[in-house]
Amino acid sequence: MDANKKYSWHKIAGSIAEINFSANGLAVVEVNNKTICVALHKDRLFACTHKCPHAGGFMADGYIDALGNIVCPLHRYKFSLQNGRNTSGEGYFLKTFPVEIRNEGVFAGFPENNLFGWLK
Ligand code: FES
Repeated sequence: MDANKKYSWHKIAGSIAEINFSANGLAVVEVNNKTICVALHKDRLFACTHKCPHAGGFMADGYIDALGNIVCPLHRYKFSLQNGRNTSGEGYFLKTFPVEIRNEGVFAGFPENNLFGWLK
């Protein structure tokens, strides 16, 4: 999470168990009328945009590799779940969002400037 950014936090589930993960550890979540991809890897939650920055592949249809990269199903580009870095080297950047587990549920944070315009 970027300490210099202000985030708008939105509840995505009441608990981790309420998130409908597929066997690949990925889920599509609707939040505030937008769609994001949520990942569960080694008991940690991550979130990123639903569509790949390369050509719009649905990230939740890909998989998570052993190093914690999310791999796009269309052309297999890899992105770090932690920071969105394109670890397979094609030069793209996957937008990621911080996720927090609170007493009231699971929340994802979205930067307050240019809010949501780039999510879909
Ligand atoms: S659309 Fe994701 S790698 Fe091409």
